[in-house]
Amino acid sequence: MDADTLIISLEHVHKEFEDGFVAVDDFHLGIKRGEFVTLLGPSGCGKTTTLRMIAGFSLPSSGKILLNGEDITNLPPYKRPVNTVFQHYALFPNLDVYENVAFGLKNKRIPYEGKDWRGRPKTKYKRLSPEVIDEKVAKALKIVDLEDMEDRDVASLSGGQQQRVAIARAIVNEPQVLLLDEPLSALDRKMRKDMQLELKEMHRKLGITFIYVTHDQEEALSMSDTIVVMKDGAIMQVGSPEKIYNEPVNAYVADFIGESNIYNATMVGDKKVRFLGGVFPCVDDFPLNEKVDVVVRPEDVLIFEPGKGIIDAKVSSKVFKGEMYQYVLLVGKAEVLCRSTESYEIGEKVSISVLAKNIQVMHKELTENEYMNAWLDGKGNVIIGEEEEISFPADYTALLKGSHIDEDGYLVDAKTNKKYDLKDADIRLTIPLDKVELEDDLSKGECRGVIISSVWVGDHYQYMVRTEGEEDFVADTPYAWNIGDEVAIHVAKENLHLSLRKELSTYAVEE
Ligand SMILES: Nc1ncnc2c1ncn2[C@@H]1O[C@H](COP(=O)(O)OP(=O)(O)OP(=O)(O)O)[C@@H](O)[C@H]1O
Ligand SMILES: [Mg+2]
Repeated sequence: MDADTLIISLEHVHKEFEDGFVAVDDFHLGIKRGEFVTLLGPSGCGKTTTLRMIAGFSLPSSGKILLNGEDITNLPPYKRPVNTVFQHYALFPNLDVYENVAFGLKNKRIPYEGKDWRGRPKTKYKRLSPEVIDEKVAKALKIVDLEDMEDRDVASLSGGQQQRVAIARAIVNEPQVLLLDEPLSALDRKMRKDMQLELKEMHRKLGITFIYVTHDQEEALSMSDTIVVMKDGAIMQVGSPEKIYNEPVNAYVADFIGESNIYNATMVGDKKVRFLGGVFPCVDDFPLNEKVDVVVRPEDVLIFEPGKGIIDAKVSSKVFKGEMYQYVLLVGKAEVLCRSTESYEIGEKVSISVLAKNIQVMHKELTENEYMNAWLDGKGNVIIGEEEEISFPADYTALLKGSHIDEDGYLVDAKTNKKYDLKDADIRLTIPLDKVELEDDLSKGECRGVIISSVWVGDHYQYMVRTEGEEDFVADTPYAWNIGDEVAIHVAKENLHLSLRKELSTYAVEE
């Protein structure tokens, strides 16, 4: 990007704390002059740490921070034209609004070229005159809409008004960049909404750069020019709110940036993707048989009468939301969140479809086999899918440390003696790629399938094996098979990793 348009550049900024914890990892970002940029991510992802480095309160372990093209990495905070509104703002409770805002200005010393006692040129410092301070405070209070409150005690102000004072205190110094660290987190919902609009308006009036931090995706979407989605100290995606919402680069961003349906899927043809047991046309081109993630926003699920859509579904829950209904549909055991102005009843059979352009197909980093449609039969097996075609003997006690199975088949907590009935419990099942064993002898596995793809990846083959019920297993193995071979699939008990999709307490047995 053109250096002239950038006000701040973070160049491979890295922050490792004394204890070895990496809070910010290779953060590389250019921020344009006048932009409203939001750092968005869950608690602990490094948002505040990043702001503190921009403000100069904390130094990067490596990397550079540039302001207007100049390296300010090691410049002390008071020399940076940057002001911060903190997560937990602190006003002086014993001072009125005017004094709170004027506080920094009264202590400010402005350099000017004067003369020493011998008449030689010397840089001298002077205070701002009371008239100048008055003028600046009045201007700042006007921007935050508190013109008539100069004499009010800050303790008598509402939360939103106090927050405005904190903002006025930061902008009165006329910074080039204003950093705002979750400034609205202490306010109630209604007040937050109002303040969001007002902050936007202040940004417009001031014309300076705002770097805003929040973990609230709605706030980020409604306020920002650019959103930076963060995870574990790293940037996941940078883009406009529309771009991030409509074209998330991975399942993490999609999930974080709003309600969405995310499914494991497989490319089954030229711009055709299979998920939820149906084949959908899509616009993204991925190689045949590639494992992908798809995201479908609830508002993009189209509901039809049975048989008219691509897959059949059943209404499982219905909530009236004012201008429309929000539904959870079930396709087998998989849930589909959707919205419609039409009324359907719980239990009603429908069918659904999604326009090709509304199916976001994303590259999946395949690190293990993952089955979100697994469940326990209560007899010691984990089943994948509806058909019961794929059933592996599993160790239920792995779900709870120090548990055992009693004579009734219940899981018993050794510490509390509480019992759990895990029959029909929904499971997320994962199997490492190198733990899927393929056998020629079809009697040797728990299920069987046909090899549909084979790739040599350096020192072993990676096969995709598809069962009759169209579940796929990816297997890493050194042994050679051919596409089209029928094989048995075996997974040892200890390599089936189970996790419950609901709280264990859901399954407690009342006695
Ligand atoms: N001085 C420190 N020493 C060690 N670890 C720290 C230090 N300061 C922060 N961390 C850790 O760095 C990570 C990022 O912290 P940071 O405050 O930047 O998160 P955040 O994204 O602002 O979260 P929140 O939304 O909760 O404010 C956290 O795991 C935090 O515990
Ligand atoms: Mg923080």
